[in-house]
Amino acid sequence: MAQLGTLEELPEDYREEMAAAGVAPLWPMMRNVLPHGAPKPVTKPGHWRYEAIRPLLHRAGELTPVEKAERRVLVLSDPGRGTGAMQATSSIYLGLQFLLPGETAPAHVHTPSAVRIIVEGEGGYTVVNGEKLPMQEGDLVLTPGGEWHDHGHEGKEPVVWLDALDLPLFVYLEGSYAEEGPLQNQRNRPDPSQLDYRAAGLAPARKLGAAKKRYPMARYPWSRTREALVETMKYDGGPVVELDYINPETGTDVLPTMGFTAMMVAAGGEERPPLRSCSSAFHVIEGKGHSIVNGERIDWTAKDTFTAPVFAEITHHADEEAFLVRIHDRPLQEKLDYYEERAR
Ligand SMILES: [Fe+2]
Repeated sequence: MAQLGTLEELPEDYREEMAAAGVAPLWPMMRNVLPHGAPKPVTKPGHWRYEAIRPLLHRAGELTPVEKAERRVLVLSDPGRGTGAMQATSSIYLGLQFLLPGETAPAHVHTPSAVRIIVEGEGGYTVVNGEKLPMQEGDLVLTPGGEWHDHGHEGKEPVVWLDALDLPLFVYLEGSYAEEGPLQNQRNRPDPSQLDYRAAGLAPARKLGAAKKRYPMARYPWSRTREALVETMKYDGGPVVELDYINPETGTDVLPTMGFTAMMVAAGGEERPPLRSCSSAFHVIEGKGHSIVNGERIDWTAKDTFTAPVFAEITHHADEEAFLVRIHDRPLQEKLDYYEERAR
């Protein structure tokens, strides 16, 4: 492979004239943007222990009233980009949100899409386009881009949830913005996960000319996901069972950009997934174990979150039966026609 020329090899007067004309030679920089064989991610494996972050969330509750925060969130910054980075991987933003009993987080709508995974507490809810979605531990709640949403809390103890957004992509595209509005009126009807899509394989009867909702179901109760994993594990064996969260009307991933996969790893089980071109974040719902991500050992326990960059070498090991949700950008990469898995 030919060695490409460097900037230093070029005469100084030529370099100055190029800069004055607002141009730069590609060849000294080409390998930065087109490395050979595989991308060179900036993202580094990250691990956020809930035990360490929990007291900081409670302190945020004392220090900053929700009115002054709009969303009281501690952002999980990618170690490869450093503290304050508004992203956990190349395309995934993660934050832990804290809401006290009686508080509300005002209604807004924005271009990026968000998903909440409930970490702790009873009585929290999210209203999406007037639909009230209860938030119980482990539930997955969607607030897709362009849908009005606000949060409230009717319980007695603080609630915490993990926010996952495709925000980095929208920031990159200079397409990220929000609008604020008054709290929404809530419809007096249980959300579609409790009625219309209560059982897999059933959907509201088709009616000619009826308007189709792009996001028909916004809440995926953890109790049902867990049960499906456990039953599948019983019959198919392990060490790992994975189920993708899907749109019940189209069978596609729940959002255009982000995918969510529920995982169960049997006690003592080990899993070595292929190298995937998507980046991933893992949120532990239950259990204990460790993962090796690009040679780095991450000892995780329930409510922890950890990340893996694109094409990471990952090994998961569960010391006890474990349930995790993998957040990834496969749907986006598939739309761009380059999602890839490589055998190890
Ligand atoms: Fe939001």
